[in-house]
Amino acid sequence: MEGQVCNIGIERKLTEPCSIVIFGASGDLTARKLIPAFYHLCKDGLMPPAFRIIGFARREKSDETWRKELRVALDQFSRTKPVDDGLWNNFAGNLFYCVGNVTDAAAYAKLEQKLNSFQNPKLRHNLLFYLATQPSQFGQIIEQLHNARLLHKEVGEGWQRLVIEKPFGHDLASAKTLNNELTRFAHERQVCRIDHYLGKETVQNILMFRFSNSIFEELWNRESVDHVQITVSEKLGVGDRGGYYEEAGALRDMVQNHMLQVLALVSMEPPVSLEAESIRDEKVKLLKSIRPLTAADFAKQIVRGQYFAGTVDGQPRPGYRQEAKVKPDSNVETYMALKLFIDNWRWSGVPFYLRTGKYLPMSASEVRIQFRPTPNVLFAAECGKKLDPNALTLRLQPNEGISLRFNGKVPGMSLGVRPVRMHFSYDAEFGAYTPEAYERLLLEAIAGDATLFIRRDEVETAWQIVDSIRDGWHGKPLTNREFYAAGTWGPMAADELLAQSGHAWHEPLVIK
Ligand code: BG6
Repeated sequence: MEGQVCNIGIERKLTEPCSIVIFGASGDLTARKLIPAFYHLCKDGLMPPAFRIIGFARREKSDETWRKELRVALDQFSRTKPVDDGLWNNFAGNLFYCVGNVTDAAAYAKLEQKLNSFQNPKLRHNLLFYLATQPSQFGQIIEQLHNARLLHKEVGEGWQRLVIEKPFGHDLASAKTLNNELTRFAHERQVCRIDHYLGKETVQNILMFRFSNSIFEELWNRESVDHVQITVSEKLGVGDRGGYYEEAGALRDMVQNHMLQVLALVSMEPPVSLEAESIRDEKVKLLKSIRPLTAADFAKQIVRGQYFAGTVDGQPRPGYRQEAKVKPDSNVETYMALKLFIDNWRWSGVPFYLRTGKYLPMSASEVRIQFRPTPNVLFAAECGKKLDPNALTLRLQPNEGISLRFNGKVPGMSLGVRPVRMHFSYDAEFGAYTPEAYERLLLEAIAGDATLFIRRDEVETAWQIVDSIRDGWHGKPLTNREFYAAGTWGPMAADELLAQSGHAWHEPLVIK
């Protein structure tokens, strides 16, 4: 292998012993994501030298029962199989269960007793509280932790941090209220707001790629870029999450967080350093430069859609309105396409197209940077529209990698030109090491590095953008043009959105 690896980060951050308390420990997230992530961190030798994980939930059960349940779940959800019995037994010895109601002060006294039973003082005072409950309970939990003297805002013993799952509020006002509740008893620097996209290798690579290579960054601006397309498409429907989705819709579920985060990383200015605050400053600046939508622009820039019955991979799928816990006349969007402009020096006039949806033909996330066409002489004059513009595609998932599309001569006696591609693939280059996003995020939370978490002003700015879109809909019902059949690429209006400027969506790349 050529070249040197330059390590910035995780090796520097080996962590102190700590205890992790998961509120809402009976939920899906704990079994599917959190415990498998902790298990793999152990497997990779990345957990602190001593740690404890305490599950806090209402259902009565013993430590042993909880461990058994988690083992069954791990067999199902672990990314490496089979689960290593020896490793699991060591790991499971660190798992404890604390039964209690989040509103009951006595439950926190029991939690404190449990923590106090640990010999190592660091296990009693270095505490990561993972809030995986209903958001409406966050405020109470934090207040109770404060009252039980388990959470210290001012300097206390050890460190305490709060990890907050999405959705972080449902609009700007509720996000502000939640932020106020959180920071009543904790400093902003103690709060880790999760967006699991930031834990993905390929999403982290956006900044690495942009700022460790000179050749592309030179072109990363309005002079060279024609437009940018960000696609996060999903082949699944809402499944059994109809109840949640009725409140969220694609705008709140995907755009407010994952899509705007990817957009910010793709388009932000270089940070002054790799410190968390420098990176987050740039992301906030970028989000603030997104041009607010006027009423006149709204129809030209925002498209929503909802799936009706169709087929995906040859299998019949129900319409959204027929899904469990969905109102039969629901107007919730399962698809969104947006055309956004970033009003800053670098990007003025360059359209950024974003789209996301459920029951689309494939599951794929990618960013396509499409460069300006060549001048209309030589080949362009001859080939016209057939001459493909150059494009760089960051394949976020699956087939993680990067592809560059450019034109080359077709071998032979004639002067044929056609697009060809160069592919970089993570698997081929680094082997199949694909840690789950949660592994990275949990490690960062334990290490106290805020880079991959969303800052208060960031989440509020994102809500401001999303609220302005919701306001544009004014509670209007969906029109016929806003429906799409499951298994297709969304409503026609999404194609028209790009066609107005002579653009067209590109299907996500499938690398064979
Ligand atoms: C979650 C959304 O945040 O992200 C889901 O709530 C969505 O609706 C999921 O399916 C997509 O994540 P990923 O990692 O599968 O792309």
